[in-house]
Amino acid sequence: MDDTPLLEMNAVSKKFTSKSSELEILNQADLCINKGETMAVVGASGIGKSTLLNIIGTLDKPDSGSLMYKGQDLFSYGDEKLAGFRNRKIGFVFQFHYLLQGFTAFENVLLPGLIAGKSKKTIEKYAANMLERVELGSRFDHRVEELSGGEQQRVAIARALVMNPDILLADEPTGNLDQKNSDSVHRLLLDLNQELGMTIIVVTHNAKLADMMNRKVTLKEGRIIPA
Ligand SMILES: Nc1ncnc2c1ncn2[C@@H]1O[C@H](COP(=O)(O)OP(=O)(O)OP(=O)(O)O)[C@@H](O)[C@H]1O
Ligand SMILES: [Mg+2]
Repeated sequence: MDDTPLLEMNAVSKKFTSKSSELEILNQADLCINKGETMAVVGASGIGKSTLLNIIGTLDKPDSGSLMYKGQDLFSYGDEKLAGFRNRKIGFVFQFHYLLQGFTAFENVLLPGLIAGKSKKTIEKYAANMLERVELGSRFDHRVEELSGGEQQRVAIARALVMNPDILLADEPTGNLDQKNSDSVHRLLLDLNQELGMTIIVVTHNAKLADMMNRKVTLKEGRIIPA
């Protein structure tokens, strides 16, 4: 059996320095996640959870350390190869969802597929399906600025899922949602994990969501430890 972890972060360090201060966010941090696992990252505001997720999602580089995906060193990839990897394998739900203003919900969800060069018909089918699953079937043609905060968050979730990524990285995916919509997003995440074996790393202050994950970790003194 192949027991190579899906993702392995080794001795990753990350500092932010400015004239007046030096912030040590990660200090030789290690993390290992297997295919199909679900993990919650909890911890105080400003401790570095989004920074960690950005590094795992290859959007930011650490000062030192390595990140392996199925045994391959991701930071040895050139920019273009890394962008392709991110597009195909990683779904990202950002804390501040970064949808394209002026475009419709549907267009926003189509975008990752169009970037990947998928056929329009295929990607339209997936995008419609994902918008239905986040209960936005009646909002396809609304532009982003015509949607509520919670609806925008759900469009961002649909966009992250449209390429059927190996790994979903979600930064406070239910931060703007009411109880009912939070519950339905929680259910969607668990369904995707069970149906597709999608690996999920979620940053959350929502105790209910954190408890649903297989594992809970926290950041402390730059390390990732069991919560
Ligand atoms: N690009 C940057 N330059 C300088 N400092 C940064 C940068 N990005 C983040 N920081 C700092 O690093 C620390 C960790 O930020 P991060 O966004 O990772 O925290 P967080 O745990 O996600 O917080 P929250 O729960 O509030 O979202 C913060 O103190 C922040 O000010
Ligand atoms: Mg954050």
